[in-house]
Amino acid sequence: GARAPVVVAIDGPSGTGKSSTSKAVAAKLGLRYLDTGAQYRAITWWMLTHGVDVNDAAAVAEAAGRPAIVSTTDPAAPGITADGEDASGPIRTQEVTAAVSAVSAVPAVRSRITELQRSIAASAPEGMVVEGRDIGTTVLPNADLKIFLTASPEARAERRGGELKAKNGQADLAATQEALLKRDRADSSRAVSPLLKADDAVEVDTTELTLEQVIECVVTLIVEKQRA
Ligand code: DC
Repeated sequence: GARAPVVVAIDGPSGTGKSSTSKAVAAKLGLRYLDTGAQYRAITWWMLTHGVDVNDAAAVAEAAGRPAIVSTTDPAAPGITADGEDASGPIRTQEVTAAVSAVSAVPAVRSRITELQRSIAASAPEGMVVEGRDIGTTVLPNADLKIFLTASPEARAERRGGELKAKNGQADLAATQEALLKRDRADSSRAVSPLLKADDAVEVDTTELTLEQVIECVVTLIVEKQRA
């Protein structure tokens, strides 16, 4: 029969192939795609470029409602703007990556972005893959399917190192692993809505899998859900 629209939550730490998997799966199944990390990065970038001290939680909270954050949800052309300015490139810089955990730990930022995520998910009748850290636990607890991607720290650092290498022509694997684990610790230990596997999430360990295998695995889980 016809496939019912599905909302899929894909959570997990960085370097597990979350973004590549989510985008590919959404494209294959004709679903929309939302990168929630990009939203936290965009608000962080806006603060960094508008004189907000990102280490001052009160200043961050005060500025949390200021920029308009708009995401495109086409998995073939994901993009994001902050107050109308294209943030797609700048959100991937080291400056933003280093500051995003502090900004995203501030409750006023989380409640604002969470509200935005819920309204975006509700406006996709064809269904959506929503990727992040707290989608299954907090943002969309009623998602049709929740997936939690994991991988060994070595595999995650290697993948992230590979991405940086492709971009910058070199990478220090040890430093990459250190920065990545530090960010995961911060994201997992914050008071509000930390990175956590939902009780009803399906855990997929991607350490020994290729990207194609992870995509296949997630597609199968979604199709099974749509048939159920
Ligand atoms: O997935 P990413 O690396 O682009 O995410 C950037 C940061 O945003 C991550 O370190 C923590 C934060 N984040 C979050 O707190 N909650 C989410 N749902 C997604 C990302």
